[in-house]
Amino acid sequence: MDARRLLETVRDQRPISPDAMTWFANGLASGEVSDAQAGAFAMAVLLNGLSHDDRVALMRAMRDSGSVLEWDLPGPVLDKHSTGGVGDCVSLILAPALAVCGAYVPMISGRGLGHTGGTLDKLEAIPGLQTELSSDRLRDQTKRLGCAIVAASTEYAPADRRLYAIRDVTATVESIDLITASILSKKLAEGLEALVLDVKTGSGAFMEDPNDSKELANALVSTAQGAGCMTTALITDMNQPLAPSAGNALEVLSVMEVLTNTKKHDRLWQVTCALGGELLALGGLAADAEDGAGRIANAIETGQAAERFGEMVADQGGPVDFVEHWADRLPAAPVIVEMTAESTGYIGAIDTHALGMGVIDLGGGRNVQGDRIDPAVGLSDIVELGTSIMPGDPLLRIHAASADEAMRVAMDLQGAFVVADRPIDVPEIIQGRVG
Ligand code: URA
Repeated sequence: MDARRLLETVRDQRPISPDAMTWFANGLASGEVSDAQAGAFAMAVLLNGLSHDDRVALMRAMRDSGSVLEWDLPGPVLDKHSTGGVGDCVSLILAPALAVCGAYVPMISGRGLGHTGGTLDKLEAIPGLQTELSSDRLRDQTKRLGCAIVAASTEYAPADRRLYAIRDVTATVESIDLITASILSKKLAEGLEALVLDVKTGSGAFMEDPNDSKELANALVSTAQGAGCMTTALITDMNQPLAPSAGNALEVLSVMEVLTNTKKHDRLWQVTCALGGELLALGGLAADAEDGAGRIANAIETGQAAERFGEMVADQGGPVDFVEHWADRLPAAPVIVEMTAESTGYIGAIDTHALGMGVIDLGGGRNVQGDRIDPAVGLSDIVELGTSIMPGDPLLRIHAASADEAMRVAMDLQGAFVVADRPIDVPEIIQGRVG
């Protein structure tokens, strides 16, 4: 096969054979396809788009460029993926709750990307906890406990690893076809029976415009289904952080408040139950999504999800008594500063992207790959959209390594809250469903 023939086909918008896609993905993984050819492919796809069949073929070929897990378990193998947001710590609650309900969840997760936090960084805020597990350990823990949350090793979807790095430097990250193939090639390498996607929309999402979010949700669902994985997507609001906190240890605190029934955190609760309900229905463990959501709620309310979370933490090297002593076990920042309102009115809009950048500026995320992150810093007690405020009322608390850093971030975040004269219509947390 010859890369130039394949590039001509994409350039001229002709159908690409699955064999050619397989050759190309394997060539990306092995290095036989050059950087120039991969960049030309990415740009041609961005400009011309792919047909449904070609997108499925690309995703499959990228998935199969590395290992694909195979399972023989007494329950369905399920997972969820979020397109990324601020204060989105759903995975940490959902994985153990699904396991309690009879599912198996081998969750291969990511680190923070841009202004959004990453599940692995949050989990690693728990002292001693390891996420770099071998595939044998991932398999073994999933079988015994029903859930594991681990980092992607190089053995999964190596074609995506190479193409993603090339997209990053060729202005081709934004292609919905390439985003779809990239996300799904990694997720479906887990050997899933069913997948639910949480596609975020709004000021803290990568896709701010609801039409773009819908387009991405449609592409993700039709491509995953085209490859034989039962899949649905919920489009959920990211015009404010999902949890009342943003930052690694602070989000684990919010998670533990939900898991131990200390606080409910309504939006986080609703999204967790709705996504879990979809998955349990797809996996045959619930009559429908509503029944499934009730089962997830029950797993949390009875304390079983907290217990399973504790077992997962201990298995991955964290403290064995984490669920009993979470408030003492998590790192805390030395400086906490409250940011307050200066005017009277209602919280009319939140620049959620700016809040995510605030966490990075505090040292809670990375500016460049390989940066060390401070798990203790971040934002907490973030005021909700629609809240009535007066001068001096709290907007959020900044957890920082020093008073100077707290002040600098407080200045940057002054404009992140828009105060309206009248009450506003707060966006529904679940804005749509595809599937
Ligand atoms: N996340 C991915 O894994 N790939 C993309 O292309 C975008 C987000």
